[in-house]
Amino acid sequence: MRDPEALAAALPPGFVLGAATAAFQIEGAVDEDGRTPSAWDEFTARPGKIMDGSDARVATDHYHRYPEDIALMRELGLDAYRFSLSWSRIRPGGTGPSNPKGIAFYDRLIDGLLEAGIKPMVTLFHWDTPIELERKGGWRKRATAERFAEFAAIAGEAFGDRVDSWVTLNEPATITLEGYGLDVHAPGLGKTLSVIPVARNLLLGHGLAVQALRSVPVRGRIGITNVHTAVVPETDTRADLAYADLFDFLHNRIFADPVLLGRTPTGPRGVGALGVALRALSRTSPRDLAVMCQPLDFYGVNFYFPTRIAAGPPPSGLGTPDGLSDAMDGTPFHLTEWPEYEQTGFGWPIAPEYLRVVLEQLATRYGDRLPPIVITEGGASFDDVPDAGGYVDDQDRIAYLAEHIAVAAAGAPGVDVQGYFVWTLMDNFEWAVGYTQRFGLIRIDFDTLRRIPKASYRFLQQVLAARKG
Ligand code: FCB
Repeated sequence: MRDPEALAAALPPGFVLGAATAAFQIEGAVDEDGRTPSAWDEFTARPGKIMDGSDARVATDHYHRYPEDIALMRELGLDAYRFSLSWSRIRPGGTGPSNPKGIAFYDRLIDGLLEAGIKPMVTLFHWDTPIELERKGGWRKRATAERFAEFAAIAGEAFGDRVDSWVTLNEPATITLEGYGLDVHAPGLGKTLSVIPVARNLLLGHGLAVQALRSVPVRGRIGITNVHTAVVPETDTRADLAYADLFDFLHNRIFADPVLLGRTPTGPRGVGALGVALRALSRTSPRDLAVMCQPLDFYGVNFYFPTRIAAGPPPSGLGTPDGLSDAMDGTPFHLTEWPEYEQTGFGWPIAPEYLRVVLEQLATRYGDRLPPIVITEGGASFDDVPDAGGYVDDQDRIAYLAEHIAVAAAGAPGVDVQGYFVWTLMDNFEWAVGYTQRFGLIRIDFDTLRRIPKASYRFLQQVLAARKG
């Protein structure tokens, strides 16, 4: 599939190829035009939280350079572009009046995309909770879900006439587990049992936001983005099976089952007191479940890699590059390696066949309740080596993307996969690891902020041109 023509020929008619970004990772301009801080601004300022000690005050400077970025997307020939709105740019502080200058920025961005023939897909929440709301308990509090629905209504009113697709939340599993459960992401609480109320409030926020967008009404399609991983026990021992089931529960099912089935997932069993506590906490009222389970026009899936789980705390010194194994020190299970696969820069196994497994699992678990699927993120970081002119010949990224796009395009029985969004358009601020992992189709020279398309950009450009031609 590394032949662009062959990949183009494998794409079903209407299959959307896009690229994705997130506001906090690219915009910079954190103090400009009325924007106020988010939980991530505060987290990055805490010593020792970001691997290279960096922050996102400038990031890629997209806030000022967006015309150049749109021009690059146009040249690439993208069908669609997924980006997120900075909540505290549009509604500083998360409550009160909206900020006309914040809205005007996204107006310019959306209009520029439409002029370039690129469909805008808007994510309402990609983790940057306004700090004032975070200080009042953030997603541990139901009130945050209500404020989020108000924000959705503001965004719907402002952009609903032009946005093609809406994603309410990006990866509620990640902010819940890594932000509230562990201490890897903002807000960095490290409170394991807070994960269940946080998950519940996020999903309520999702449901209320869908209702808010529909009542505007907006013209675009509405969905959510969950990150899915296929979970595999390391061995067939009872303990490994039980902890693999626990991980599947925590990572996949508590976020997908209420949204798609309107029910709390069963389990987890066989993991002692932790399981009992999680079961008790996850009981959700029928009324809340009904809010979470709104009819959706599509279901967004982010897929990066499968997960292998073994019982017992992580062996010390594993130190995976994404920081997860260290952060999980003390948990009763751990993530183990995939020696049979090559790895990305983050140490993630490159296993496109597991995207197929995820699709099959979605069909089995959710049957005719499953909306059409859009892969809203997929991609890989590598140790990009630029030549003297800054050009990166990233054949490894081309292989990753070509294989995963081919699996997505082939779909699976009972699943209608409608598109694939590459993570990400350009190198950016990669959360807890700062600027140390590069995922972009476009290289950013962070000293000069120069944008230099990589070989993977050229590859995708050829795929898009071959398909259109
Ligand atoms: C996903 C996030 C995205 C980016 C990629 C690498 O979990 O949604 O912002 O960090 O991982």
